[in-house]
Amino acid sequence: MANNKAAVKDLISIELPVHIGFIMDGNGRWAGKRGLPRKFGHREGAKAFESIVKYCKNIGIPYISFYAFSTENWKRPKDEVDAIIDLFRKYIDDVRKHIDENVRVIFLGDKSVFDDELRRKMISLENDSKDFTAMTLLIAVNYGGRDEIVRATRNIAMQVKNNQLEVSSINEELFGNYLDTKGIPDVDLLIRPSGELRLSNFLIWQCAYAEFYYTDVLWPDFSPKELDKAILDYSKRVRRFGGV
Ligand code: FPP
Repeated sequence: MANNKAAVKDLISIELPVHIGFIMDGNGRWAGKRGLPRKFGHREGAKAFESIVKYCKNIGIPYISFYAFSTENWKRPKDEVDAIIDLFRKYIDDVRKHIDENVRVIFLGDKSVFDDELRRKMISLENDSKDFTAMTLLIAVNYGGRDEIVRATRNIAMQVKNNQLEVSSINEELFGNYLDTKGIPDVDLLIRPSGELRLSNFLIWQCAYAEFYYTDVLWPDFSPKELDKAILDYSKRVRRFGGV
């Protein structure tokens, strides 16, 4: 806490992570503590998301990924699921109004389950922002790391079956090109708030060498100052990638 104020200044002299992943956990507990329905927690979580996106752009993080809705989250009550999906819709419409901000948006996950209107909005935002260079924002919706790997494997198998691909040419690099994150560097720093120490099926391939940062702060309270702390912590880690 004592170093909070200095944190922003300190970031200037350190090597920033190229790709930060965020698991936005703790919205339900944030609402519960205040006697509010869970969807209020998600609404506050969406505000925290927007403020972290802006901050990352300001400090120059090239790639950021957010776990917004997992393939398992459909098990939640319908009104909670609807509230989260409405937040996506609203965010996509808002981003459209600020499309000139030079941020590329990519949705990770299987979009086929969403209604036509939402799916079209997602695809058109991806297309219209594809040449933007200030930052790439990846939002995982109906996303599961295992599901992503299975979808990639099916596509590879189909190409082998159709004689478009040799089995001997399948390697890690080729496999990565069949994932939703094609062309995006691996995650350097994975941040999970709210005290849970799990990856929960988020970017399991891409986090192979990620540094993990956990905090008890609940996602709606995760501010740019909290992010500074995570980045400073990350800057002190020695990354060996299996070497010595
Ligand atoms: C996990 O917290 C959070 C979610 C399943 C939803 C996260 C979605 C948002 C913050 C909205 C994002 C909006 C945009 C525009 C990307 P939890 O509900 O599991 O929290 P708990 O563990 O305290 O119950």
